[in-house]
Amino acid sequence: MPFYTDTLGLPDSAFGLLRDLIHERTGLFYENGKCDILTDKLSPLVIERGFNSFLDYYYLLKYDAQAGDEWRRVMDALSVQETYFWREMDQVRALVEVIVPQHFSTFRAGPLRIWSAACATGEEPLTIAMALNEAGWFDRAPIEIVASDASAGAIDKARRGLYRERSFRSLAPPLRAKYFTEERGAWRVAPALQARVKWAVANLAVEAEVAPLATAPVIFCRNVFIYFSADSIRKVVSLFSRRMPTPGHLFIGAAESLLRLTTDFDFQEVGGAFVYIKH
Ligand SMILES: C[S@@+](CC[C@H](N)C(=O)[O-])C[C@H]1O[C@@H](n2cnc3c(N)ncnc32)[C@H](O)[C@@H]1O
Repeated sequence: MPFYTDTLGLPDSAFGLLRDLIHERTGLFYENGKCDILTDKLSPLVIERGFNSFLDYYYLLKYDAQAGDEWRRVMDALSVQETYFWREMDQVRALVEVIVPQHFSTFRAGPLRIWSAACATGEEPLTIAMALNEAGWFDRAPIEIVASDASAGAIDKARRGLYRERSFRSLAPPLRAKYFTEERGAWRVAPALQARVKWAVANLAVEAEVAPLATAPVIFCRNVFIYFSADSIRKVVSLFSRRMPTPGHLFIGAAESLLRLTTDFDFQEVGGAFVYIKH
């Protein structure tokens, strides 16, 4: 929004500092040509703090003892929470029809953990839970779904479990009727389905937050790498590969690719979907 940029000004040097700090702490990368997107998203936060320059805001984020709270606001402001139920279902079908049966035929007693690593407001892990429930898996085997996002605001919404029409664009009406109840113009997820998912706030760029979750043999990390630099993706994928057991299955978004970024995973077709496998 020109108003903010004009008011605050963002000299190239300050933009570079702020952009690099955000990249280092979140993995999110704004090229020089995307300067205005970053300024539009951050300007309201800078103004709320009473600053009149981005450089002051940079110093707050980098050095202030209370920067933790401010980083929460930054993450919420930069988070693009575009998601919906039953998105890119070929991968979820491959999970339910091939990977889960394989897991339980090989490790009969062991529980299976599935991690949705940038789940936004929760539609992805709830889709996985619905699909597993429809196939009767929860009655037959111990399966745990963990879902996280770096945006605490997104996870608050996921915990609330109230969804608007946009989230249902691909979900068949009978499934909506089965798993959701209408509530004042929105839809509340059934408590039993909601209880299948454990929610957490975790930043993919912070090793200590990701390492315990990345021990899951199945990771969905979809439609977040499109916002990351190649270097940030490499770091995250390398951590996944060090932590995941074998075989480990990693799903990324249809518009994303790891082919030039890692040799730790084989790219394979499984049950009609593409998946990166750690052997
Ligand atoms: C477009 S949504 C993807 C939602 C879902 N995975 C899907 O495919 O429908 C991208 C999400 O990535 C999250 N995100 C961005 N940077 C992240 C980071 N460093 N760690 C974890 N999540 C991050 C955003 O907060 C946002 O909720």
